[in-house]
Amino acid sequence: MDDMWMVRWTARYAFAPAEKEIAMATARSRGAIGAKAVVPALVKEMAGKDDSILDFGCGPGQRHVRALRAAGFRDVTGYDFGEEFLGALDRRYQLVYASNVINVCLSEAQVRRTLMMIKDLLRPDGTWVVNYPSDPRKAGLTVPQVRAILEDEMGGANDMGIKTSAVWFGTSLGVR
Ligand SMILES: C[S@@+](CC[C@H](N)C(=O)[O-])C[C@H]1O[C@@H](n2cnc3c(N)ncnc32)[C@H](O)[C@@H]1O
Repeated sequence: MDDMWMVRWTARYAFAPAEKEIAMATARSRGAIGAKAVVPALVKEMAGKDDSILDFGCGPGQRHVRALRAAGFRDVTGYDFGEEFLGALDRRYQLVYASNVINVCLSEAQVRRTLMMIKDLLRPDGTWVVNYPSDPRKAGLTVPQVRAILEDEMGGANDMGIKTSAVWFGTSLGVR
């Protein structure tokens, strides 16, 4: 990533220290990164083994990245806050998923900035998948409110129809 690109990136997606700190603390807290996470399981059904996949907000141990690779997905990358992840921003992906990420944003503005990033990381024919677990919900947004934000930022949101959890997906076509 060259310096000018980095400056532009930082200007567009600047997250305050408190926003990063609280989001990252959720990954460190006990049980936050679950083996039974809903979204990575759906990704296994949706993606091809050679599709480029980005785990947006993968957490420090990249648990789901490792699990997908072990399941035969050959091009899986993790991204989270921290310099060690910046290389993940150098390309675009066929499928970008954010598992238990939107719910740790502190405000509607932070949710929107996070979605903008996801949108920008998609290939022109790409697909996104995002969930909104019931706990925690740091910004206090309701499920209909998050859906409306997704409609607004991503140009549409399709309900995955999971009874136990709010999960939506869409394509780049909606966001162009
Ligand atoms: C509760 S953890 C979830 C970890 C993992 N995705 C899972 O499903 O188990 C939330 C993660 O999202 C990350 N995160 C939230 N907003 C982010 C952003 N805008 N950019 C990068 N990482 C973000 C946090 O740092 C944290 O590691």
